[in-house]
Amino acid sequence: MKNIVILISGGGSNMAAIVRAAQQQDWARSLGAQVAAVVSNKAEAKGLEFARAQGIATEVLNHKNFASREDFDAALAQVIDRYQPALVVLAGFMRILTPGFVAHYAGRIINIHPSLLPAFTGLHTHQRAIDAGCKFAGATVHQVTAELDVGPILEQAVVPVLPGDTAESLAARVLTQEHVIYPRAVAALLRA
Ligand code: GAR
Repeated sequence: MKNIVILISGGGSNMAAIVRAAQQQDWARSLGAQVAAVVSNKAEAKGLEFARAQGIATEVLNHKNFASREDFDAALAQVIDRYQPALVVLAGFMRILTPGFVAHYAGRIINIHPSLLPAFTGLHTHQRAIDAGCKFAGATVHQVTAELDVGPILEQAVVPVLPGDTAESLAARVLTQEHVIYPRAVAALLRA
């Protein structure tokens, strides 16, 4: 069985979309794959409750308990590697990863970013798209490389920016499309 390990920091709606796709499309049979664990750097991440309710193993590793980014990433890799992942999926995991961590998972770690990369790397993507007068916004699934939010693009979805949009309304519109493209990108990689 190919194990998928999903990393979250918050609501975990993308994680939930992947878990639901795995159930509905029976990835265990069709792809020989399963969501083996959900890992959060925050104990209060809402997505953990969903994962537990689905019977998925959960792990919490608080980055504040570590002296350095390197120490946290080393401990995080130890937790992840217990599940021998074929794929590590960053789903709203709000941590900058060290080059060593990324290299350890080279070719088997992906992220979703709420912009049409290469535009708007980093934070506050929706407000920045509105401020720039963009007519369209969206989300990108990409391979993770050492540089933040850069790396080969696997999937994108586009939504309109509508008159009167706030960062919140645009984020909600983009998020519905994230839930479409992220499970699709994961399945495509597992099929490859
Ligand atoms: C998503 O919009 C995701 O694209 C974004 O955080 C949200 C997490 O939502 N990720 C980033 O900003 C990464 N830099 P979720 O926890 O409900 O999946």
